[in-house]
Amino acid sequence: MPPMLRNSRESWGSLARFFHWAVAALVLVQVALGLAASAWRLSPMKLDLFVWHKSLGFVILLLVLLRLIWRMVNPTPALSAGMSGIERLGARASHGLFYVLLILLPVNGWVINSAANVPFSIFWLLPLPAIVAPSPALAGTAENAHFVLFSLLSLLVVVHAGAALRHHFVKRDEVLSRMLFGPPRT
Ligand code: HEM
Ligand code: HEM
Repeated sequence: MPPMLRNSRESWGSLARFFHWAVAALVLVQVALGLAASAWRLSPMKLDLFVWHKSLGFVILLLVLLRLIWRMVNPTPALSAGMSGIERLGARASHGLFYVLLILLPVNGWVINSAANVPFSIFWLLPLPAIVAPSPALAGTAENAHFVLFSLLSLLVVVHAGAALRHHFVKRDEVLSRMLFGPPRT
């Protein structure tokens, strides 16, 4: 049976799965755009890459906020029965950290953009208001913080994907299949 829109206590619904994989795919594109934009030689292309990077950052922020709201108005599937106390703690902490990082990164990017006093419109359409006063010192600090947050996110993705594969191939439980596009494996 295909998953229902809403979550159940046993499995993720189709909307939660959509949010998970859409955000995962967009974060990969976002990281590639950030690295490419930073490394590009100064040219109109570099500026365009930054507009895409910053705009996509706000799309990710919106999706993450909608995803959190959807999570609050739904039951959350119980963690797999075969998990130890430490595994449960690790799962809860790492999932929470994902949400924190995926909100902090765009907000911190917004601080960089405002402090650097760069005029910017989301997708060339929606002018972004400044959230802090222009300050080259703050822009530099916020850029460093952006890199630290990105590094933490990368580490978390590796650990998280590794844990998901371990559930599927070593523990052989339902954790990965209930997030993939199909019914949970029993
Ligand atoms: C989930 C959201 C985001 C992710 C994962 C992300 C990731 C990255 C990465 C990997 C880089 C290149 C490495 C670095 O220089 O730090 C970067 C650079 C940058 N990002 Fe983001 N970013 C996000 C959102 C944003 C947003 C919303 C903005 C602005 C509104 C932004 C502005 C910048 C700027 C200005 C740089 C260049 C920083 C520098 O020159 O050191 N980012 N980002
Ligand atoms: C940037 C990439 C990713 C991000 C940001 C991310 C984020 C998250 C978050 C926040 C949750 C917790 C959901 C909640 O409790 O609301 C989660 C769950 C999950 N993720 Fe990811 N994820 C990413 C990539 C992946 C990959 C590559 C895999 C598989 C190899 C994966 C497999 C899973 C599974 C199976 C769950 C469900 C855990 C459970 O049912 O208890 N994720 N992910």
